[in-house]
Amino acid sequence: MSRHPLRTWMLAGALAGSLSLSCREPEEPFPNIDELELLQSLHTPTHAPPKDPTNKYGDNPAAAALGERLFKDPGLSRCGTVSCQSCHDGEGRTVDTPTATGCDGQLTGRNPPTVLNSGYSTWFMWDGRADRLWNQALLPLLSPVEMASSPDILRARLSELYAEDYRALFGKLPAEETDDNLLLANFGKAIAAYERTLNRNDAPFDQDVVRFLAAVEAGTAEKDPAYLGLKTFVRKGQCAACHKGPMLSDDQFHNVGVKDQSGSQRGVATAGTEMLAWPFNSAGPYSDAPTGVESTRLQRLSSDLREKASEMEGAYKTPTLRNVTLTAPYMHTGEVKTLEDVIELYDKGGEASGSYAGVVSETIKPLELTDEEKRALLKLLESMTGAAK
Ligand code: HEC
Ligand code: HEC
Repeated sequence: MSRHPLRTWMLAGALAGSLSLSCREPEEPFPNIDELELLQSLHTPTHAPPKDPTNKYGDNPAAAALGERLFKDPGLSRCGTVSCQSCHDGEGRTVDTPTATGCDGQLTGRNPPTVLNSGYSTWFMWDGRADRLWNQALLPLLSPVEMASSPDILRARLSELYAEDYRALFGKLPAEETDDNLLLANFGKAIAAYERTLNRNDAPFDQDVVRFLAAVEAGTAEKDPAYLGLKTFVRKGQCAACHKGPMLSDDQFHNVGVKDQSGSQRGVATAGTEMLAWPFNSAGPYSDAPTGVESTRLQRLSSDLREKASEMEGAYKTPTLRNVTLTAPYMHTGEVKTLEDVIELYDKGGEASGSYAGVVSETIKPLELTDEEKRALLKLLESMTGAAK
């Protein structure tokens, strides 16, 4: 890539002994060793979401059953009309508009991500404002724009409809739980137990990758129907630099140059710092993990925020690409309407600098994809939607 085009041309000319032959150097066969490793990381998860040591109710079926009822209950909101489900509904478990509507018609600042497969992630919200699934749930509950609730409203509603279920799990009636924070954390842990059951994997994409890897072994990779799509995803488009592993996400933060002039445009640079000081974070007193277990993860974020400040500026979490056909519109702003538009955005190397905070990650640059490559990439993205249950 870094080789000077003129030198390449002269080399090719010299090797061929004639200027009339193609001046392109022969391309390295796809995949090379590193690319093969990336391809091998792209497979449907082989197990349920990994245990969350910070939530001892995470895999408790009674907690999941209570969590499901809470997730769907608008009575937990101050206005009485908004539940988690209001903004995480339908097949894609999101909305089909750029932002969503909370209490009194207020609009959220960002696009709701899907909650499908959320148990596989360890950072939540586009900007990493929450570091575990259970503590994430407290943010929409208490947000004045979303459910506008409070510990008192939560306690009253739990007492009204869920008192015995709550006691069976947490050992006290909600009315007896005088520690507001503990009440909130328990609520979050039940919700998370439910969300951990919302998984949708096993996509046609996964079968394509398995077949492609067999073709690589057999030396027939180029003849495989998924060849161009996977090659564009892994090599020319560099998509798999970030969208890798079973969830097609590295669960890290990057700046891909999405236009955002809002007050919260700095992404993880501001939100991450706030989360590190949050009493509900996974190293705090409401976490079920033994002291210290979660702090390595948080310390790494903390040092990234200091030492890689320019990379973290305007950076957002790499979303999963699983089920991406069900979750339009796209990006944290929800302003990118279709997958074709997403591909165009990457093809031009992000929006013009200055229309978002910070600078784009080094893999984000003009790609010069051909129409054929764009079509193959689109087909690949469309194949990532899992089988309906
Ligand atoms: C009014 C709409 C609205 C309501 C109500 C709502 N959400 Fe969300 N949800 C959003 C938006 C918008 C985001 C992204 C916010 C951000 O990143 O700034 C989000 C993000 C999330 C995420 C993070 C997903 C990820 O991959 O990072 C989870 C999980 C989630 N919501 C679950 C819930 C739960 C649980 C509730 C109820 C307690 C809930 N939501 C209520 C709109 C809503
Ligand atoms: C440097 C890491 C990185 C690279 C490279 C990258 N992405 Fe992304 N991708 C992200 C991040 C981060 C977001 C969210 C950005 C935002 O909203 O600001 C995202 C968002 C998306 C979305 C929107 C998903 C949703 O739910 O809104 C799609 C689709 C997507 N990427 C596909 C691709 C494709 C195709 C490529 C290759 C052409 C690619 N990505 C390359 C990190 C990356």
